[in-house]
Amino acid sequence: MSTPERQREIYLEGSRGKRPAIPTTFGELETAARDTLSRKGYSYIAGGAGLESTMDANRRAFERYRITPRMLRDVSECDLSVKLFGNRIAAPLFTCPIGVLELAHKEADLAVARAAGSLGLPVTFSNQASRTMEECSAVMGDTPRWFQLYWSAEDELVVSFLRRAEQCGCRALVVTLDTTMLGWRGRDLDLAHLPFLEAQGLAQYISDPVFQSFLDDPELLAEKAVITPSSVALLARMCKRYPGSFLENLKSKRPLAAVRKFISIYTRANLTWRDIPFLREHTDLPIILKGILHPDDARLALDQGVDGIYVSNHGGRQVDGARSALDCLSEVAAAVDGRVPVLFDSGVRCGADVLKALALGATAVGIGRPYAYALALAGEDGVRELLENFLAELQLSMCLSGVSKIDEIDGDLLSAES
Ligand code: FNR
Repeated sequence: MSTPERQREIYLEGSRGKRPAIPTTFGELETAARDTLSRKGYSYIAGGAGLESTMDANRRAFERYRITPRMLRDVSECDLSVKLFGNRIAAPLFTCPIGVLELAHKEADLAVARAAGSLGLPVTFSNQASRTMEECSAVMGDTPRWFQLYWSAEDELVVSFLRRAEQCGCRALVVTLDTTMLGWRGRDLDLAHLPFLEAQGLAQYISDPVFQSFLDDPELLAEKAVITPSSVALLARMCKRYPGSFLENLKSKRPLAAVRKFISIYTRANLTWRDIPFLREHTDLPIILKGILHPDDARLALDQGVDGIYVSNHGGRQVDGARSALDCLSEVAAAVDGRVPVLFDSGVRCGADVLKALALGATAVGIGRPYAYALALAGEDGVRELLENFLAELQLSMCLSGVSKIDEIDGDLLSAES
């Protein structure tokens, strides 16, 4: 091994006159995606909470940490593979759960599952996916996949989601704790756009037998809708998206009932640490808590016997002014002290960022917005290319820093600049 295959391939194809479909730098990728996506779609994916200062902090933290490469350490053989939750994976990289991917591409989650699956990288199926977990699982072969749960106000639905996740071969449950309500997202508010109200991002619900049984309640349609040209157009879009015939959907108004029910049960704001055992009672899957930023919360999670801690500030979409996730990572990793894996996301934009997060204590690192943009630009091939770029740059960053195995990466590689 010397240079990664992906790098060689890019230069070789260049000599035949072909450029990569996906820009290798994040800035260019985001600009290209902005030009491709609808205004509403781009705002939903790119936006953060409030003044987006948490998004900025996520990036500044990565900038502050600098790598000091070491020399003459035989890096001719590089191994990126790691074992995680009992499964060997190609590299300590996974795709974060991202809802409503139909805003980016019609194949949405299915394209991501195919691309990451073909590279042996885990995928986290979002609770707000545009394609069902069963459909996506079916294209992933043996590659591990995880299901991300938003804890609904209806426990019966939570249990049904857990059952389905187990049955379709998910290997872990990721419970997102930081979204008991939606953050104050200026870009979406200014466009008055929430995709769920258009029946987007509801695939896991609509395909669920328990959720469907809720829709038989006539009360859901008792409240009359205000009729305006926009509301009629919205109902038509919902009926087109919802499974089954357009006319049948229009007659039954089931899509409208689904949106109304979803809005009323989406999350549970009264969750506390005392609720975590409920999950353990209902699933044997490893339980990972996503959204942990404080070391005391990591300790409370360990007290509950969870199997993984996931440090994230939701890419700055929830609490404007929150600390960068990277600054929280080393404190949380110290509190966890190797007892369970520590996953990380928020602000990861390139392979060198992955190396920094691993050096600060992450066991595996999640890629978020970059893959959504790649999906928008070139579907499944775009996501594959983006993930290959991350793998190649991670490998190069490691080898050029004098490290050839993941477990050789530690804090000595980094220094923090003030
Ligand atoms: C998200 N994220 C998210 N998280 C989650 O647990 N469930 C979800 O359905 C979603 N949906 C979602 C949609 C969009 C458009 C974005 C950008 C993010 C958060 C996601 O899992 C991850 O924490 C962030 O994307 C990480 O930040 P960066 O790296 O994308 O900035």
